[in-house]
Amino acid sequence: MSSYSTVFKDETKLDINYIPSRLLHRLAELNLLNQFFSFILRFPGRMSQRVLIAGKIGTGKTVLTQFFGLQLSREAEKRNINFHYVHVNCRECRGNMLYVLQRILQRFYSNFPVRGYSLEELLQTLVQALDEENAHVILTLDELEYLIQKAGSDPIYQLTRLQETRSPNRPHRLSLICILRELSILEKLDDSTRSTLQNNIITLAEYSKQQLEDILKDRVNLAFKSNTVSSDTVSFVAELAEAENGNARYAIELLWRAGKYADANQLSVVTPECVRMATASVYPTIRKSDIASLSLHEKLFLLGIAKAFNQTGKAYISMGEAEENYKVICEEFNEKAHKHTQLWKYLQKFVVIGVTHTRKDSTGSKGRTTIISLPWIPAFQLEKELYKSLKEEAE
Ligand SMILES: Nc1ncnc2c1ncn2[C@@H]1O[C@H](COP(=O)(O)OP(=O)(O)OP(=O)(O)O)[C@@H](O)[C@H]1O
Ligand SMILES: [Mg+2]
Repeated sequence: MSSYSTVFKDETKLDINYIPSRLLHRLAELNLLNQFFSFILRFPGRMSQRVLIAGKIGTGKTVLTQFFGLQLSREAEKRNINFHYVHVNCRECRGNMLYVLQRILQRFYSNFPVRGYSLEELLQTLVQALDEENAHVILTLDELEYLIQKAGSDPIYQLTRLQETRSPNRPHRLSLICILRELSILEKLDDSTRSTLQNNIITLAEYSKQQLEDILKDRVNLAFKSNTVSSDTVSFVAELAEAENGNARYAIELLWRAGKYADANQLSVVTPECVRMATASVYPTIRKSDIASLSLHEKLFLLGIAKAFNQTGKAYISMGEAEENYKVICEEFNEKAHKHTQLWKYLQKFVVIGVTHTRKDSTGSKGRTTIISLPWIPAFQLEKELYKSLKEEAE
């Protein structure tokens, strides 16, 4: 077997459920959570808390809360406080509060059955269990949408009002963190349930390209052998994930898939082309009808771009490089090359049909140049399609 039969050192570090040992760019949010729940360490039982976390897909809602839960559990253990962080995904519980409660109760009674119990009975059992064990719980309801869609306000209302049904001097034992992608779903709740949830909201913003790069670099060090992933590749993946609403999940998955393509092709490094192959497996590639609808010179120009990526192995090329390649293609096809302004229009069309991305780069010596990338389709595949289409046109 060759020495680079795999680029990976430890693939589990790219698993979606892996909790990293450090959480980048979410320090402020982590501090907020610590502030909201500091009473659990200082005055356990004195009060309870409800916090809502909102953010788009892949903005780190799940990992933030799990990281926080782990940290708080360690602190509580040091202080001999019987604290449990329970993270339940409402989608996995099929939006059913009975299953949610079963998950918490299983912490206290192994193999706790739910069948035959009503919601009220389960809540009472939970209260009893917490009292008996002198336990304190933060329950995180992840992907709360599923519960709201399925069951409306009722179960959440009962959960949030648990304390009120007890005599006032009994200790508070259950706090809640609710996670949602969109706050608008709260409109489905009745006023009082909504107001009990809305007091403390932490909103997670989309990650920027730089932030995604930092997150990716950490994972590269953990998951890949050294020098197998270039900073160019990391930057490329980060840019694609930024365009997907700053989605860190997409970034990490793309990186993993790109590594898989490197292995499958027995490459010693994860190249930008591997990333393009990975994107093509996540997204539908450009439709053949889109290529067929291009004019002759649009096809020739796009072929020049595809070849430039194929030959250089780069993640980005400049408009100048694209034009140079296009001229060579025109010679190959005995065509007179079109002018820059015309090519510029062609490039805009490629962006519209979703073949290329462009951005301005002012760091070059020649002022602002246009930088082209090919995010969604492997260059070799595009080149093959274009040659086929040009051949058909000539026939
Ligand atoms: N700040 C961060 N530092 C390190 N890793 C992160 C960070 N934010 C997100 N990640 C990683 O990115 C991936 C997606 O994060 P997470 O699952 O927490 O997103 P989410 O907001 O819960 O998404 P969804 O809405 O799809 O549930 C995970 O693998 C997570 O470990
Ligand atoms: Mg999540």
